[in-house]
Amino acid sequence: MATDSRLITVVGATGAQGGGLVRAILDDPDGGFRVRAITRDPSSDKARALAALGADVVQADLDDARSLKKAFDGAWGAYCVTNFWEHFSPEKEITQAQHLAEAAFHADVEHVIWSTLEDTRLAVPLDDDRMPTLMGKYKVPHFDAKGEANSEFTERDVPTTFLLTSFYWDNLIHFGMAPQRGEDGRLALVLPMADKALPGIAVADIGKCAYGVFKSGPETIGKTMGIAGEHLTGDEMADALGDALGEPVAYVAMDPANYRALGFPGAEDLGNMFQYKVECNDAFRGARDVAAARRLNPELLSFRDWLAGHAGELKGA
Ligand SMILES: NC(=O)c1ccc[n+]([C@@H]2O[C@H](COP(=O)([O-])OP(=O)(O)OC[C@H]3O[C@@H](n4cnc5c(N)ncnc54)[C@H](OP(=O)(O)O)[C@@H]3O)[C@@H](O)[C@H]2O)c1
Repeated sequence: MATDSRLITVVGATGAQGGGLVRAILDDPDGGFRVRAITRDPSSDKARALAALGADVVQADLDDARSLKKAFDGAWGAYCVTNFWEHFSPEKEITQAQHLAEAAFHADVEHVIWSTLEDTRLAVPLDDDRMPTLMGKYKVPHFDAKGEANSEFTERDVPTTFLLTSFYWDNLIHFGMAPQRGEDGRLALVLPMADKALPGIAVADIGKCAYGVFKSGPETIGKTMGIAGEHLTGDEMADALGDALGEPVAYVAMDPANYRALGFPGAEDLGNMFQYKVECNDAFRGARDVAAARRLNPELLSFRDWLAGHAGELKGA
């Protein structure tokens, strides 16, 4: 490995987004980059697996600004992601983003990618009663916090690409969203997307696209890049799922209010999120360009490509 290669610090390295980026960097030993993988626990199985692949694994915590500053020291680039679902607190997510932006500023990082999402309140103000206001000042807390936190990077003039990600198809396996068998014995994909298309992506492709952003140079700095593998309606997803599973899958368009009432942690947030994706569908889809994602990552998977590699896991999900 060349010692003059550019160092990229990857937050969330043991997770879905960051893990994809770490692997993309390590899979391209002549690419001119090396990677520092951040985790709270370097002794975990996932962290050890990254070390075994050749990553420099370093301990840091998003809640500990000093540890992040050390982890960003000497880095040319940084991938910044927060995990809302670990704590369900928008305020905490914004503070973690602030720590990330401060660390990038202090280390003079030349290119940061901030994994963000829309502040939905810009399109659906709090007094808009199409969907309930949550936690007093959010419509979609896990989106709004990330969008609000964009300013942590811009206010410090951190050279940042704002990366808008899409619904992970992997949620069908890991987030309990796989087709379920109804009382009639038939499989149904239940999603509150009405008849609108949902931008989705294979999660490993997020990291590969992020690697493409770093490789493409400074042209995206200061810009927002949205990525998706495909935009599909519920019917189109159900058809593809049916072909992969070898039996018909029906699409059931759940009402977002019923989704909000499901009662699991985050159900209201996700119900509002799906309603936002339906009601602001043109803007939401327009912000996620499949062709641009493919230019960043020529291996970008379609939904059917992704299903071909995951049908077995879906059958057990
Ligand atoms: N699911 C979707 O469809 C979807 C779509 C778009 C965006 N998102 C967003 O993706 C984010 C999660 O990213 P992901 O899916 O890549 O995460 P993930 O697979 O759940 O993994 C979470 C990662 O965050 C790290 N982490 C969490 N808290 C940390 C802390 N305090 N300090 C340092 N590292 C910490 C974990 O590292 P260690 O445990 O090793 O410390 C781990 O690497 C969420 O905020 C979500 O809103 C999700």
